[in-house]
Amino acid sequence: MVNTLNKPEFEELRPGIKIPAKETILTPRFYTTDFEAMAKMDISPNEEELRAILEEFRADYNRHHFIRDEEFNQSWDHIDGETRRLFVEFLERSCTAEFSGFLLYKELGRRLKDKSPVLAECFTLMSRDEARHAGFLNKAMSDFHLSLDLGFLTKSRKYTFFKPKFIFYATYLSEKIGYWRYITIYRHLQQHPANRIYPIFRFFENWCQDENRHGDFFDAIMRAQPDTLNDWRAKLWCRFFLLSVFATMYLNDIQRSGFYASIGLDAREYDKYVIEKTNDTAGRVFPVILDVEKPEFYERLETCIQNNEKLRSIDNSNRPQPLKLLAKLPLYLNNAWQLVKLYFIKPIQVDKLAGTVR
Ligand SMILES: [Fe+2]
Ligand SMILES: [Fe+2]
Repeated sequence: MVNTLNKPEFEELRPGIKIPAKETILTPRFYTTDFEAMAKMDISPNEEELRAILEEFRADYNRHHFIRDEEFNQSWDHIDGETRRLFVEFLERSCTAEFSGFLLYKELGRRLKDKSPVLAECFTLMSRDEARHAGFLNKAMSDFHLSLDLGFLTKSRKYTFFKPKFIFYATYLSEKIGYWRYITIYRHLQQHPANRIYPIFRFFENWCQDENRHGDFFDAIMRAQPDTLNDWRAKLWCRFFLLSVFATMYLNDIQRSGFYASIGLDAREYDKYVIEKTNDTAGRVFPVILDVEKPEFYERLETCIQNNEKLRSIDNSNRPQPLKLLAKLPLYLNNAWQLVKLYFIKPIQVDKLAGTVR
């Protein structure tokens, strides 16, 4: 018998189709870019490496990986209450992030087809991978009697415009952080199989190799465009993107620590490990990385977490709107201040570390 009392309520667009989560500054973003500029890019300085990566994409190692096996064929109603809510949220956020990659890469593949065939094919093959990832996650949502209408999502979401070089920084980091997130969960559950309460995590090992290859592609593209890495502006932007990616993940995950606890992970430890690894990885291509070992780094992020908790409780109170806004303003300002201070923590110059981190 289904115990409806233990099932969290989700708002539905149609029966079984979940209304997408409200967009906030912390939800996965959809991107668009200057396709003309991308098509004109000269990739010859690193064409050989890009062609080698294209061969890897063509090999399609995960062609037969994303197939649901019999372990999925059971009722998941025993995952209930708050855990169920957090699970569905995790699947939705992951699916949205994967799908956002799919849309961007697919469009790039289409628009670059006749003008920059090597890049175009790389993008098309990466969109193939992201479609598999998003589809697999959406199918997993249907185990919880919900799914996302991806066509609706395509039309209803706002798209953020980024110049090509910002697309490279942002997608490079999101692919590499994706790699470290998936592999860390996979390894943890390999050591603690009792915590593997749902079969999707078993797929993360090969899955994260897709993300790693995608990251390597953006690494190679940035090397083909040395001005994305060499000057003082590049250093400032790399710091900016590292900080935004790390801060967004940390604030999101700590707020959802219950999800990580349900698979036996401490959200703070998990995030710190993923950030340390992604930061080190970024040091292979970025001219600077962040000093994440400085205690101030996490102290300031923790202040933002406390501010966000207060913001949520103000939102949930029944004060009139103008009073809410007045109460929220200093917290917003304090968050902005923490992020500015974080940005100005002295970074680590990678060129000085040659041979160590690299
Ligand atoms: Fe993916
Ligand atoms: Fe990817």
